[in-house]
Amino acid sequence: MRDKRRIIAGNWKMYKTAKEAVYLVQELEDKLEGMATSHLGAIEVIICPPFTALKSIYTVLWQDKPPIKLGAQDMFWEDEGAYTGEVSPVMLRDLECEFVIIGHSERRQYFCETDETVNKKVKVALKHGITPIMCCGESLKQREAGETEEFIQTQIIGGTEGLTERDMKNFIIAYEPIWAIGTGKTALPEDANDVIRHIRAVLASRFSTDVAGEIPILYGGSVNAGNIADFMAEPEINGALVGGASLEADSFANIIRNAR
Ligand code: 13P
Repeated sequence: MRDKRRIIAGNWKMYKTAKEAVYLVQELEDKLEGMATSHLGAIEVIICPPFTALKSIYTVLWQDKPPIKLGAQDMFWEDEGAYTGEVSPVMLRDLECEFVIIGHSERRQYFCETDETVNKKVKVALKHGITPIMCCGESLKQREAGETEEFIQTQIIGGTEGLTERDMKNFIIAYEPIWAIGTGKTALPEDANDVIRHIRAVLASRFSTDVAGEIPILYGGSVNAGNIADFMAEPEINGALVGGASLEADSFANIIRNAR
């Protein structure tokens, strides 16, 4: 099998002030520096701090180009305008954000995001050269009703509406079952692998087998240093989108180490 891309991304959610964020990145940098290049070399590390910390992280740390890439947790779909409270892709690009999480289940649940708004955001991210990390995932009710595959298919088709095969070269998907987020209850690695295989099948029929095979698809939901290796061992899984365990340098560095 071709060597797969391996990505570990941290979603800090609404945690860390700008000062705390800088401290955490410095700690993380130290730990990654101490890690043998054989461990880190093959892993792409992304952190997605809150908007208010992006600037401090960019100015304080990005001069030394650490092996960590910067992402945001959301953005609006217009470049500028009278949209009080929103942050635009132009503003993210200005701070060297290379990635943006779009359509996290918490945004769908608390901020009324839909597949249509997710699709608008994804398109604008791509237009600005920012790689979307588009999230999908079923609720416990949907899983128990046997609706997981159908629901995920709707999210993938809706979120990628109007995109071309070329757009998909700069795209990451995160499969995060809602019932596994922040609960300490992970999906079984083989079950996550099955859903991700299904996502690839949807992408193969929607785009091509090339897109389906190449696109990085991450698992998210209670990932930690103790279980990451089991997820990485699954053939369809390219890495993880980590919430709680990315908020502390030791645990995030151990996830990166064990993901190798
Ligand atoms: P936890 O790792 O805290 O379960 O969060 C997962 C998540 O929502 C990442 O986006």
